[in-house]
Amino acid sequence: MNWKLAARAEKMNPSVIREILKVTERPGIISLAGGLPSPKTFPISDFADACAEVLHKDGQAALQYAASEGYGPLREAVAEMLPWPVDPAQVLITTGSQQGLDLIAKVLLDPGSRVLVETPTYLGALQAFSPMEPEPVSVASDNEGVMVDDLIAKAPDARFVYLLPNFQNPTGRTMTEERRAAVSAAAAKAGLPIVEDNPYGELWFDEAPPPPLTARNPEGCIYLGSFSKVLAPGLRLGFMVAPKSIYPKLLQAKQAADLHTPSFNQRMVSEVMKDGFLARHVPTIRKLYKHQRDAMLAALTREMKGLQVEFTQPAGGMFLWVRMPEGIDTVALLPKAVERGVAFVPGAPFYAGASDPRTMRLSFVTASVDEIDTAIAALAEVVREQLAHNAAADVQRLLAASPT
Ligand SMILES: Cc1ncc(COP(=O)(O)O)c(C=O)c1O
Repeated sequence: MNWKLAARAEKMNPSVIREILKVTERPGIISLAGGLPSPKTFPISDFADACAEVLHKDGQAALQYAASEGYGPLREAVAEMLPWPVDPAQVLITTGSQQGLDLIAKVLLDPGSRVLVETPTYLGALQAFSPMEPEPVSVASDNEGVMVDDLIAKAPDARFVYLLPNFQNPTGRTMTEERRAAVSAAAAKAGLPIVEDNPYGELWFDEAPPPPLTARNPEGCIYLGSFSKVLAPGLRLGFMVAPKSIYPKLLQAKQAADLHTPSFNQRMVSEVMKDGFLARHVPTIRKLYKHQRDAMLAALTREMKGLQVEFTQPAGGMFLWVRMPEGIDTVALLPKAVERGVAFVPGAPFYAGASDPRTMRLSFVTASVDEIDTAIAALAEVVREQLAHNAAADVQRLLAASPT
């Protein structure tokens, strides 16, 4: 059959990360590529108990169709968890926060709509927005996130700005309190809605990050949260907090998308979360990830010595961002690294505008400390070889250009 594709389908691309993950499934590859939470942190026996309890106590309702807004007690628990006053009626349970991004795109973006994003930004958001055929606009960003002057300059006519203030994917950086205040004030003044995505906020290592942007101006923000990083991503459970002025439209989009997020999963998580479970469980994840981050920072410092490699020092989350020396293109480097048994994600797909070919994202949570050591040593070796190869090619070029 010769399918005639819709224009939006023509714009859909396979996720670069999913393609890389296929390679990394080969035996012998240490993957620093995927954003997979450590399976060691999944509370399997608590889930088993909660499943039994839900089926025993509430089986018929748990297996029946349900309200699109989500399971009442879970919406209440989410509202209570957040650090600003939230009415549970503003909470929409979503099938992962990725669905939240899809619903927002459907409700707020037309072909050609300008949507502002950080430089770089979460690849999955660019992918979720893309079928609506918007024009993503990259806002200049530094180590504290999006820069206010450029945000103000690009705000006119933009539908919203998409921001990740905590332990950003892909860079691991966090927006300071001062920057949050300035961004929030500038967006409110420009009438620019903020979509705040916060799946990593609870994964802090030494101190909690400043309060969310949404807490400063709940009427001007849509907030996205997720259970993927604090419980398990396979549940596909996230949530959205939206002001009353836009909630009904998001709800209609949710109804059309999948009627509702699986009732059983919602009840199970609601059951697991009873009695302050997250307050006991999340610190164990923080402790493990901090240990892993320390191991990766130490390995990078040790193995990349003398190579002029820059890397971020994330205070939480799952990723750090590396900038390789002049002459290294990480897209070209990847197959060579895979040959040596290590995979990473090149930085290019995380940019809405011009990309920096020297960048890459490394996850410090999936591989063990020993694997991190081995992988970073292999990566440093590949980089050294590539630099030596570049230098030899430069000499060849010079010899070829000079008169004999
Ligand atoms: C920034 C960001 N937003 C959203 C998501 C989607 O998360 P989920 O759909 O599992 O809640 C991810 C997943 O890695 C992410 O990194």
